[in-house]
Amino acid sequence: MEKIIKVDYQSVKGFLTENEISYAKEKAYGTYDILTKGTGRGNDFLGWLDLPSLMDEEHVMKIENVSAKWKEKVDLIVVVGIGGSYLGAKAAIEALSHSFSLHLGSDGKPDIVFAGQNLSEDYMSELMDLVKVRSSACVVISKSGTTTEPAVAFRILKQHFEEKYGKTESSERIVAITDQAKGALKGLATQEGYTTFVIPDDVGGRYSVLTPVGLLPIALAGFDIRAMLKGASDMKGLCYVREDDNPAIEYAAVRNALYSKGWKIEILVNYNPKFQYFAEWWKQLFGESEGKEGKGIYPSSVNFTTDLHSMGQYIQNGERTLFETVLSVREPARKMVISDDPQNLDGLNFLSGKRLDECNKMAELGTRIAHVDGGVPNIQVEIGEISEYTLGALFYFFEFACGVSAYMIEINPFDQPGVEDYKKNMFALLGKPGYEELAEELRKRVR
Ligand code: PA5
Repeated sequence: MEKIIKVDYQSVKGFLTENEISYAKEKAYGTYDILTKGTGRGNDFLGWLDLPSLMDEEHVMKIENVSAKWKEKVDLIVVVGIGGSYLGAKAAIEALSHSFSLHLGSDGKPDIVFAGQNLSEDYMSELMDLVKVRSSACVVISKSGTTTEPAVAFRILKQHFEEKYGKTESSERIVAITDQAKGALKGLATQEGYTTFVIPDDVGGRYSVLTPVGLLPIALAGFDIRAMLKGASDMKGLCYVREDDNPAIEYAAVRNALYSKGWKIEILVNYNPKFQYFAEWWKQLFGESEGKEGKGIYPSSVNFTTDLHSMGQYIQNGERTLFETVLSVREPARKMVISDDPQNLDGLNFLSGKRLDECNKMAELGTRIAHVDGGVPNIQVEIGEISEYTLGALFYFFEFACGVSAYMIEINPFDQPGVEDYKKNMFALLGKPGYEELAEELRKRVR
């Protein structure tokens, strides 16, 4: 049977010795024990490890009930959230959707759009242009219930909903996903009588895609969350194996072995634009989990072959601190063969009869060899196809690998102390009560 995820690090062997790799693997198994036994820092945030089974039939049915309730009357759903309360759903929906669904016209499924992930006045105003002319619903997501960006977007949307649909109907069109007890959003949802889903206390934002935070928007977009949970569950089975061949351990070990020898930047590479937002989810996962105490691999991403025409030069010849992790898909969902042209004016008849995917795969192979020759180590993470099942597996795989990996550099993977710094300054500059002293200090600095 094909593996759900294959990790191939053959080409890294030109950069690391067998000893360095096996030392890193041994270390990774040590931190695997810390993660799975719950003895490490941040161990009160390990609930995500069991989400594939915790999200049982009862949870799935509650999610599906919202889809059923909105099916007849709603054609646009605004999902409000930022960071971990946004990127997982966005990643899965982008990966699974037809690339041009918004231009193709209605397929009977509601359109999903996102808000609260920025503070741009233009973005929000333009979004309201759309919301005003469509029959809309809203899913507002915030674990803390106090994050500024989604709170501001939701205030605007809520007021519009109440004006357009009236208070009672408006409450029928809003669902909140938040903490079970704390935060302004929880209080507001209870008072307004919104249907509410709980984000478990022991699951942090960037590990929450397999809770209703990700599952509800993904289901509302028309995708099969049971298959996604099955993929995650099967992947969990493979991650919880303390022997050679554990793909998450291999990935965590090799990237850390590279890091300790000076490769400080990891680029997640894809050859399918459907993965653009998956890369954003991955960057947040690793960036917020590992980037602390002056340590951590810097996660970045490129979309090939597009970015070979912008970033390719740097990757090939620039500073030698980069390594690549290529997210590779064996078989695309569609087939397209390049036709023959008797005149051959474009000189492309050498491609006649070949699938476009063969060109893509040869670009992938050729690039991998060129970059390795240029001093860029390469890890390949391969899945068979893009589907709900493989995405569920990928989410779990990277989360598990991230936990193991962060513990390898002695970092707590589950907090994000640095995220607070910009917020304090922003609140002070906006005149939030309680921040007067800091506001004064900041104004002096920018005068
Ligand atoms: O991973 C995290 O914890 C963060 O990225 C949060 O998800 C993000 O800051 C949003 O927080 P909240 O869901 O509390 O609004």
